[in-house]
Amino acid sequence: MSLWIPGPTEVRPEILAECARPAIGHRTEAMSALIARLDPGLRLAFGVDEASPAQVAVHTCSATGLMEAALRGVSGRVLSIVGGAFGRRWHQVAVSTGHDAVALDVPWGDCVGADQLDRALREQGPFAAVTLVCNETSTGARTPLARVADVLAGHPDTLLLVDVVSYLAGGPVEFDRHGIDFCLAGSQKALALPPGLAVFCVSPRYVERAREVEHRGYYLDPLKVLDGHVQRKTPSTPCIPLYYALARQLDDIAAGATLPAGERPADAAAAWRARFDVHARMQARTASWAASRGLELLPSPEHASPTVSCVRSESIDTAGLVAGLKERGFEISNGYGELKNRTFRVGHMGDHTEAELEELLAAADDVLGAG
Ligand SMILES: Cc1ncc(COP(=O)(O)O)c(C=O)c1O
Repeated sequence: MSLWIPGPTEVRPEILAECARPAIGHRTEAMSALIARLDPGLRLAFGVDEASPAQVAVHTCSATGLMEAALRGVSGRVLSIVGGAFGRRWHQVAVSTGHDAVALDVPWGDCVGADQLDRALREQGPFAAVTLVCNETSTGARTPLARVADVLAGHPDTLLLVDVVSYLAGGPVEFDRHGIDFCLAGSQKALALPPGLAVFCVSPRYVERAREVEHRGYYLDPLKVLDGHVQRKTPSTPCIPLYYALARQLDDIAAGATLPAGERPADAAAAWRARFDVHARMQARTASWAASRGLELLPSPEHASPTVSCVRSESIDTAGLVAGLKERGFEISNGYGELKNRTFRVGHMGDHTEAELEELLAAADDVLGAG
């Protein structure tokens, strides 16, 4: 079965082999070296400037764990942008961690507008932090971070917490340029690893403010995890096989090993850009295929995610398409929650190739019949 759901996604055999390495102790020099090996690749993934004081780190938990960890370092009111299931989840996490959290609702498939966000910050603030899901996996809508950064520049005391769970390693993140304070992702999406590990990047001002927060918890205390990472020690036993897998994947991306045969990037930064180009092309191809079948994406073209296409499917038998593809060896997803049977989602993320996408689309044509 070829996995095209919007995560977990297909994992290359080379990565699976990394997970099968012999066990090592987590309080060893080998483990410290493995942790240190991750930083250059993660800094490229998060788009951290070379001289930036921002810090990257890794934790053994799923992405939801880091949504909670991010908020455990925030004291004060939170504004949660909710344009889909994962924006809603972050709002629920904020409420469950005792924050006075206000939801800023956006129609599913849409992205928050600059005026709408600015008005909410001015009229309902002050807020200690804004939570945003950059790439809404339930709707396939990607919010342009430059737009949010511009608004937040006018509210300099408000931290910007961003979920790039299904986007990191599928499109460029510009952590410093967009004034992000806490950015997080999980391993099983566009990084194309098995699930179980989460990665994040923090600004110095997030860290400063978090140090003032008492009772940040233990396992999800963001500073305990960060300080451990910086010292090349984890506060508790990490999922070591996934550390090997992440290190290998970051090395492979930087070397261009996941690019189409023949593409030879000049350096690591060029290799990352070329990877993002592949995802942009897969998005464009999926949208043009959908159009050829008389179907449209749920988000407007400028908000279409490079990693998850959410296609409106009221005019076809959505469940039949999903089932027919499964019979042919391809797994895609029906719509999420209230979008079930009204949309379907294709996760063209991670290490999927354009040639493989053609096979999937041909199989979809086969299921749908001559159009
Ligand atoms: C955008 C987004 N945020 C958060 C999550 C939660 O991730 P996890 O299930 O790894 O906790 C997901 C999972 O699909 C997601 O797509």
